[in-house]
Amino acid sequence: SGEETPSTDLITLTRHVLNDQLRLGSAATGDLTLLLNAIQLTSKFIATNVRKARLINLVGMAGETNVQGEEQKKLDVLSNDIMVNALRASGKTAVLVSEELEEAIIIEDFYKGKYCVVFDPLDGSSNIDAGVNIGTIFGIYRIQPETNGTIADVLRPGSEMVAAGYTMYGSSCNLVLSTGQGVNGYTLDAALGEFILTHPNITIPPRGKIYSFNEGNSMYFHPPVTAYLKSIKYPTKGKPYSARYIGSMVADVHRTLLYGGIFGYPDDKKSKSGKLRLLYEAFPMAYLTEQAGGVATTGTKRILDIVPKAIHERCSVFLGSRDDVQDLLKFYKDAC
Ligand code: AHG
Ligand code: MN
Ligand code: MN
Ligand code: MN
Repeated sequence: SGEETPSTDLITLTRHVLNDQLRLGSAATGDLTLLLNAIQLTSKFIATNVRKARLINLVGMAGETNVQGEEQKKLDVLSNDIMVNALRASGKTAVLVSEELEEAIIIEDFYKGKYCVVFDPLDGSSNIDAGVNIGTIFGIYRIQPETNGTIADVLRPGSEMVAAGYTMYGSSCNLVLSTGQGVNGYTLDAALGEFILTHPNITIPPRGKIYSFNEGNSMYFHPPVTAYLKSIKYPTKGKPYSARYIGSMVADVHRTLLYGGIFGYPDDKKSKSGKLRLLYEAFPMAYLTEQAGGVATTGTKRILDIVPKAIHERCSVFLGSRDDVQDLLKFYKDAC
């Protein structure tokens, strides 16, 4: 009874990543840890401002003020700006690519470091009004040896990323990260201002019971997708799958990592290349999925093998439990 004695051996994100780096021996300089510290700061800043915007929204609904629309449009920009500023100031980056900026940023010599960060500052931002989970997605490359950092350093296959992750702003603030040695989840302790390890070694169940697609696009879907969806909704044996679609990639992928199943945003007759962006949506989520033991594909090839031609290019995405994605792939194979 009474209060539990708090743990005095907290595993913070920084401690955990440092520990991984220590295991790598002399190759690690601590630069990635410092870069991840900058990302943690941006996540804390965005979490605070998302919460503030929601408060303003509630006040607005009570008829006091009506600034919520404006606040929310500002949040994409605010999130972008804090990321650009913090990543530049970290001194560890050379190239930045953001969903919100048409051109890549090449960091000036004074601040230049050896990493490139591609990011979606606020994913699912159309959901803010409804209080639905939103997030930040990021992927990290190391610049090519002997270069100073150019756009060519981020036009590289996702398999070359050295780390990827997302932060989800929900009832709690969760940062899910892989540095290439599995996937770990951390929860923000707001009082300490630290991300604490709460979900060590996340692995996707080999098969799930949930599918997550925007079926409002059904009339545009290609035959393999239509046939696959039919197979899980009208199974010849067993129970049909449940549908869950939030419309925030971060939230839909987070659930898929924890519970299993399949998430899909395919290319179709209307969106010839799909909707999701390769560099800062598909690659980081594919990286995490594979690190968690799942599969990520366009339907015809492994997402992480794609060589980007442009920083804002889009791609078809299916990811999740190994067996579920393999089932989908059979329909693609049968189609050719
Ligand atoms: P963003 O808010 O960064 O522009 O991304 C929105 C994306 C992604 O979060 C989600 O998976 C997808 O858009 C939802 O699209 P639909 O509304 O077409 O289903
Ligand atoms: Mn997005
Ligand atoms: Mn976005
Ligand atoms: Mn957007």
